[in-house]
Amino acid sequence: MAFPQSRPRRLRQSPALRELVAEVRLGVSDLVAPLFVREGISSPQPISSLAGVMQHTRDSLKEEVRALADLGVPAVILFGVPAAKDEVGSGAFDPNGIVQVALRELREELGNRIVLMADLCVDEYTSHGHCGVLNAAGDVDNDATLEIYCKAALAQAQAGAQVVAPSGMMDGQVGAIRAALDGAGFHDIAIMAYSAKYASGLYGPFRDAVDVQIAGGGNRKGYQQDWRNAREALREVAADIEQGADIVMVKPAMSYLDVIASMSQRVDVPVAAYHVSGEYAMIKAAAANGWIDHDTVAVEQLTAVKRAGADIILTYFARWFAETQQ
Ligand code: PBG
Repeated sequence: MAFPQSRPRRLRQSPALRELVAEVRLGVSDLVAPLFVREGISSPQPISSLAGVMQHTRDSLKEEVRALADLGVPAVILFGVPAAKDEVGSGAFDPNGIVQVALRELREELGNRIVLMADLCVDEYTSHGHCGVLNAAGDVDNDATLEIYCKAALAQAQAGAQVVAPSGMMDGQVGAIRAALDGAGFHDIAIMAYSAKYASGLYGPFRDAVDVQIAGGGNRKGYQQDWRNAREALREVAADIEQGADIVMVKPAMSYLDVIASMSQRVDVPVAAYHVSGEYAMIKAAAANGWIDHDTVAVEQLTAVKRAGADIILTYFARWFAETQQ
């Protein structure tokens, strides 16, 4: 009988041996925690479709960010839920808008202990729920929206954001924001571009978290990417890097590992991936039913995102991971 010569199992015999030969290691320093802060509430509100995630008050946000910094999570990204919404999303650029107020407070309290990122978009702030302003025909007006994004970038930078993260998928958004920041002397504020953001069905729980319904049962297919296209993502990323993106992102993560992989092989800036609300919620729901093991699947998925080539992972599991998996 001929014995097999190649025996990969030799290196799988003990936890120590498996650890020695692991190709990637997921660590807390890879993670960014997305956080929600809501204007005008007096106690944190749970989000039923995002188990364990809260709409924070300004105070509970401070506590959460301090805890994350103590646990070694390097960064948070903030999303605001305003008390009132309007046609142009003015809460996104008002110096007293909820995220700007929260940024100032966090900066004062925590200084540089943790990186403060701000999602830069208007959908949480518009009455119609779109990521931009609408023209007379009811379509999102790309260039009019860029002007609003520039104002939001300046408001976030002034409030203490170190990284602004445009997520609206308008053409030219990175270049416009870079020029606005530089024009105001904010040369050191970095841009993490949501470069390849797909019009995914996996953002549902997030929209619960920020109280967004898209008017008329609409969708974002007119500006976010079609999930049938991978090469198009490379075009988006190249444009963002040319316009000055410091970090580029793919979103969602698990359904787009091919995009993460090809992007990370082609670019020389850090690549981020967003393990989004629906991806998190699916694990929570299946685990709550006893159909899968929560901890195993969470670590498996986040590790897969890293293995595909992401340097940075935005995930609602960040605190849990830092507390239990280190
Ligand atoms: C837009 C934005 C969205 C998410 C992050 N930024 C929602 C959308 O495009 O509809 C989704 C994140 C998630 O699902 O976790 N401001």
